[in-house]
Amino acid sequence: MRVAVMETAMDTSTDVRVAPVRVTVVIGSNRAGRFGSVVADWLLDRVRGRDDFEVDVVDVAETDDLPTTFAPTPEATARLAGITPKLAAAEAFIVLTPEYNHSYPAALKNLIDWHFHEWRAKPVALVSYGGLAGGLRAVEHLRQVFAELHATTVRDTVSFHNAHASFDDTGHLRDPSGPDAAAKVMLDQLGWWGKGLREARGRWPYEG
Ligand SMILES: Cc1cc2nc3c(=O)[nH]c(=O)nc-3n(C[C@H](O)[C@H](O)[C@H](O)COP(=O)(O)O)c2cc1C
Repeated sequence: MRVAVMETAMDTSTDVRVAPVRVTVVIGSNRAGRFGSVVADWLLDRVRGRDDFEVDVVDVAETDDLPTTFAPTPEATARLAGITPKLAAAEAFIVLTPEYNHSYPAALKNLIDWHFHEWRAKPVALVSYGGLAGGLRAVEHLRQVFAELHATTVRDTVSFHNAHASFDDTGHLRDPSGPDAAAKVMLDQLGWWGKGLREARGRWPYEG
């Protein structure tokens, strides 16, 4: 009996826990001349530099023509065909958000609201940037939204206070030590949740 239990545990670790977590990075700004591209490049470098994630990207700047009226029109269906599969296939998300008027951008909310099942029982990491507050108010609002969608946000974040001044003209961080360390902590947590919830969804389909 004891041996059987151990074998089950070993099978689980080799089959499931080693495979990279499929993560979709959601870039949350579509403003013309946005600074978000600079932060996104830094973030994608961090994630792609690890072997425990496979990365895909959904950029709200490429979903501008997603309607804000929730109606299954042919136009909406056509737009969603290029977006929804990337969210559905994800086992984890990283949402990159600026702060607009103490919250996150409308285009990001629209993308989130067009989907439901795609977020469920999956972990979400949050990276933010802005002025003095570093986008932290946007992050806390997003935690409420993702809780409603049965997604779990990971505790640690990366936030860029006075973001524009943190990067030089070539798009490199003036001092990468703090953000890189914060990203490692956040991504380690996301990987843990991603693997854990992948296994959980496989064993017990989420019905919450
Ligand atoms: C409409 C708007 C509202 C903003 N509101 C805030 C704010 O409430 N707090 C803050 O720290 N920064 C605020 N900012 C500054 C942005 O966070 C900052 O410019 C950031 O780079 C915007 O992201 P983006 O360039 O990728 O669009 C605001 C910027 C815009 C355009």
